[in-house]
Amino acid sequence: MKKIIPLLILAAVMSGACNKSTNLSEDDSAIEKKIDKLLSEMTLEEKIGQMNQYSGNSAITGPLKARPEQIEDLKKGWIGSMLNVVGATNTREMQKLVMENSRMKIPLIFGFDVIHGYKTIFPIPLGESASWDLEAIEASARVAGSETAASGVHWTFAPMVDIARDARWGRIMEGAGEDTYLGSLIAVARVKGFQGKDLKDNNTIVACAKHFAAYGAAEAGRDYNTVDISDRVLKETYLKPFKVAVDAGVGTFMNSFNELDGVPATGNGYLVNSILKKDWDFKGFVVSDWGSIGEMVNHGVAKDKYEAGNLAANAGNDMDMESNSYRDHLLQLVKDGKVSEKTIDEAVRRILRIKFKLGLFDDPYKYCNEELEKKEVMSEANLNMARDVSRKSIVLLKNNNQILPISSDVKTIAVIGPLADSKKDMLCNWTAMGDPNDAVTVLEGIKAQVSATTKVLYAKGCNIADDSVTNFAQAVNIAKQADIVILAIGEAGNMSGEAHSRGNINIPGRQEELAKELFKTGKPVVVLLMNGRPLTIPWLAANAPALLECWFLGTQSGNAIADVVFGKYNPSGKLPVSFPYSVGQIPVYYNHKNTGRPKLSDTDFYVSRFEDIPNEPVFPFGYGLSYTTFSYSDITLSDTAMGMQDTLAISVQVKNTGKFDGEEVVQLYIQDLVGSVTRPVKELKGFKKLMIKVGETQEVKFKISTSDLAFYTKDMSFKAEPGDFKAYVGTSSSDCKEKRFTLK
Ligand code: BGC
Repeated sequence: MKKIIPLLILAAVMSGACNKSTNLSEDDSAIEKKIDKLLSEMTLEEKIGQMNQYSGNSAITGPLKARPEQIEDLKKGWIGSMLNVVGATNTREMQKLVMENSRMKIPLIFGFDVIHGYKTIFPIPLGESASWDLEAIEASARVAGSETAASGVHWTFAPMVDIARDARWGRIMEGAGEDTYLGSLIAVARVKGFQGKDLKDNNTIVACAKHFAAYGAAEAGRDYNTVDISDRVLKETYLKPFKVAVDAGVGTFMNSFNELDGVPATGNGYLVNSILKKDWDFKGFVVSDWGSIGEMVNHGVAKDKYEAGNLAANAGNDMDMESNSYRDHLLQLVKDGKVSEKTIDEAVRRILRIKFKLGLFDDPYKYCNEELEKKEVMSEANLNMARDVSRKSIVLLKNNNQILPISSDVKTIAVIGPLADSKKDMLCNWTAMGDPNDAVTVLEGIKAQVSATTKVLYAKGCNIADDSVTNFAQAVNIAKQADIVILAIGEAGNMSGEAHSRGNINIPGRQEELAKELFKTGKPVVVLLMNGRPLTIPWLAANAPALLECWFLGTQSGNAIADVVFGKYNPSGKLPVSFPYSVGQIPVYYNHKNTGRPKLSDTDFYVSRFEDIPNEPVFPFGYGLSYTTFSYSDITLSDTAMGMQDTLAISVQVKNTGKFDGEEVVQLYIQDLVGSVTRPVKELKGFKKLMIKVGETQEVKFKISTSDLAFYTKDMSFKAEPGDFKAYVGTSSSDCKEKRFTLK
């Protein structure tokens, strides 16, 4: 049976086959004419008004309304967008202020950070990426989009498509991990999920590719820190997920807080005007990050907000989120001849274009429907979807003696750990309107699935981050009474996310010691690891009998984990990011370069190595076990050589050799052996997730063409160079079979 290979989908979007932005449809031409008319009637103040975005009362737990000083500006039509105002009733109220008072009656666009769900919270994006399941990821964004739209909001500040190779960076949780190819496919899936088939539908929202660009490359992983990378690395590693988001039709972009080669991204005309708007022909609008225009003063490239506003507007930043630089200075900047009216018109055109595409001019209240809100938000179907995506995101890292899955009629289970019964931690960061009270904990999930005769014992054991060991004894005591121990440890939910960089990425507090005490009992212990980033866990990896990477799975955490623990679902996740041995290895990623002195054996000395730690991560990119086992046949190539116009077929037979039906993610990597510039040791170029029944063998076929072999060559042209290559196919980035071929 032939498989659909994501590679082809990506090649299509990369090549522009899905490019929705270049050719204007009839509908688009009509929109442009309407915008011409509006622009001809608007005052300069009203135009600048469209470029301002403010936050409502940001007490996320209560109804989100305008701050008093914003009311007057709203009435005058001097605000184009609000963020953090949610709920069908609240958004209608605020929209009315504009529609019933302002001269031009241009509807507001409401934005909100719906990062992994609106109220039905899905796994953190990094965790969800471990599913390598593009359909599931798209479906998750679709649910989030429907709930958001039903709550009066038109626009999410997601997906975050920043590639991240430094687990100290707290925002690694918001992205798709370390790899550009996987990250690009996931970016497309998320954009499609949020935006659905048509933005005019009343259950779709506009997506926002953020943060443009290279925010994930912050020095030392410290949030907001300086980024200094080569243009080649920028283009090859960091920009691709943004490019494919444009080609998939993403409506908006957000720029990033960081500088890049000395120029803050918010005022970076090379990034926004040249690359995004000119080269990529992006037709949507660009919003600054929160206050980032004003922050150019701190960066030291602008004396004050007047100068900062000047830099941002001329670099192509269309909307000012919360820095007041545009509101307070743009009019004067135009009067002073620093910012042209043409620049203002272009920015406003882009903003209005998205408002038209959303259908807001037809019905500014189209999302304000309390009945739909009640029906859609946290519906049973949405919760079921969240449970399914959550279990698909779990990665089995270790399973000595096949401890897992365990039988649901085991006599006694001890559930232990500070994360075993903590509702608030399950949602992690960026919880939108998610309510911790709705979250199912591990203890609750386990209790719901065990047999009527099973005894479930519980002890917290210790806190997440303090030094107390006084409750160890109670935990050890219940472990001794149990047939199996489930131990939930890791980070607190709020240790990752924005402004949550960590210098040490170990398991905090005394939790590893608690694990040690429990292992000493000799009981089988299943460790559930919860974390918003890869953690340094060499000791745990060596000593835990069984280890499941559970990330933070959201509302349905406990149910999804119980499904995996009891074998209702056979884990199929694969790591989208490497787990470093220690902080000293960072950045550690599978597609590194070879260097002039690669380490080939443990006895080599003058080679690229550490004196005290291995070069390899504890768990590599692409790694993840199943309750069953798979065997791979040797790779077959359709030819040993291909021409520049040819395609090469690569196939492999994968057999389920174990005792459970299971899904496997078959991964294809390519290495260009000699290039005009150095090339990575291997790069992911395709994968296929497929279900293989016990004893069954399936053939998996990949097809590659020269576009998959292309890179930024010595003269910075993007092309493939003739020469020798290796194709690797396997179960993880470090466990593959290989075969050579030549590009002629
Ligand atoms: C974050 C953005 C977010 C914005 C609005 C900023 O601090 O960097 O990712 O969308 O706030 O909440």
